[in-house]
Amino acid sequence: MINKESPIPIYYQIQEHIRENINQQKWVKGEAIPSERILTEQFGVSRMTIRQAVQGLVDEGILMRKRGSGTFVSNEKVEQPLKEITSFTKLMEQRGMKASSKITLFSVRKPNEVEAEKLQIDIEADVYHIERIRLGDEIPIAIETSIVPCSIAEGLKEEDIQHSLYEFIEVKKGYQLGDAKQSIEAIGATERISKLLDVPIDSPILQIERVANLRSGTPLEYVRSQYAGGRFKFYL
Ligand code: GLP
Repeated sequence: MINKESPIPIYYQIQEHIRENINQQKWVKGEAIPSERILTEQFGVSRMTIRQAVQGLVDEGILMRKRGSGTFVSNEKVEQPLKEITSFTKLMEQRGMKASSKITLFSVRKPNEVEAEKLQIDIEADVYHIERIRLGDEIPIAIETSIVPCSIAEGLKEEDIQHSLYEFIEVKKGYQLGDAKQSIEAIGATERISKLLDVPIDSPILQIERVANLRSGTPLEYVRSQYAGGRFKFYL
């Protein structure tokens, strides 16, 4: 299978085989791929070469590592429309996936100057500071840090953000969501992001910063979301 005389690097040839296995559905999305030992035997190359090939495909998002259980063929990326405000929970539900959150921070504090300006509130007003890891079918997809004025989400509890912040705003508070302004940029996973999203350090991350407004135009949320690039894409 591998042509050692070819000028094409061996790890690259292996990657091509792996891609073909996935395209032909010999290796199925969401399922584990053979162990390094088996691949080493199958391709008749060193373990280091297998590692290099697999790592490259993990970095591209074609394969993914799950801690403690091996390497898997990635599922399709979650796609989010950019033209409307969509709650993470709804987005997952639309795709038949189970949304869940790990809350890493939930507190009430005063906003800093940037936050106060973005949310158009007084520097002395209280805000909720919420940081959550958002998961789809137990796979971490994004880290979201939301700053929300207490005046809009008064009474917000941990169990509400465990489920859906936007549902709380719409159903319990009776507000309608409006539009948003956002910027998207590419960054590399820092050590912290890499731990929280279970991706390699320096792997591609889509970072979104946005201010979402209520229908009335009042800013509701200043949020920074960091999506694992291999598991997420946007469309417009
Ligand atoms: C999306 C948005 C976030 C928002 C979240 C609310 O992910 N990018 O800005 O905070 O949805 O999701 P949920 O209603 O599931 O808490």
